[in-house]
Amino acid sequence: MKLPRLVGHRGAATHAPENTLAGIRAAREFGLEWVEFDAQLTGDGVPVLMHDDTLQRTTGDPRKIAEVPLDEVARLDAGGWFAERFREERVPTLEAATALLVELGLQANVEIKPSPGLARETAIATVSLMKRVWHATRPPPLFSCFQVEALEEAQNVWPEAPRGYLMRSLARDWQETAVRLGCLSIHLWHPGIRPDQAEAIKAAGYQLAAYTVNDAGRAARLLEMGLDCLISDDPPALAEVCGASKAA
Ligand code: G3P
Ligand code: MG
Repeated sequence: MKLPRLVGHRGAATHAPENTLAGIRAAREFGLEWVEFDAQLTGDGVPVLMHDDTLQRTTGDPRKIAEVPLDEVARLDAGGWFAERFREERVPTLEAATALLVELGLQANVEIKPSPGLARETAIATVSLMKRVWHATRPPPLFSCFQVEALEEAQNVWPEAPRGYLMRSLARDWQETAVRLGCLSIHLWHPGIRPDQAEAIKAAGYQLAAYTVNDAGRAARLLEMGLDCLISDDPPALAEVCGASKAA
């Protein structure tokens, strides 16, 4: 599987509230073919789209998501914090987000984002659900995670779905881990990527993705360095340098 040059981060987080269905729709409207989002478990073990381990920042509820059941999470407003016109947005279940991806013909980088101590459970629930609802005719989604145990579970549950090894900076033993986990790609925080690292990753046969790139000049330098994929909050800002479609 070849990763695209440009992926919308948390949907298209500059333009619509992160990790919502509106964010996924915004990515599609910008002409993207791929979107990244974060999957985390509610208190009753249902995968939903959420980045933080508390609900505070995006819904105003101070509780930890791992302590709140889905029926309560589903009632929260996940869009009003971003802009008044998004007040009807909810925290979507992964199942609802997947149905929308299928409807819009979008491909996904699903970041497994466990609450503390729940890496294996989150990976098993996330990957099993997507395996069940994903259409067999489409290439499987790409699962990424900072935690190796979660990628191990992703590999067990759905070995054919590609995996991305997500790191802030390149770990000393990155290659050994990537081989063991059968990874397709390495995902790094863009400010820390050195040209020699990019070269080594590419030479070892991995695709290289960078997050979160929102500046066109920086994007151009990363592409020159050999990056395959840029994950951006602001896809229209990078569309020209990435050769991607612009907003309609
Ligand atoms: O998947 C890339 C990126 O989303 C990782 O960082 O904190 O934005 O989920 P974060
Ligand atoms: Mg993420």
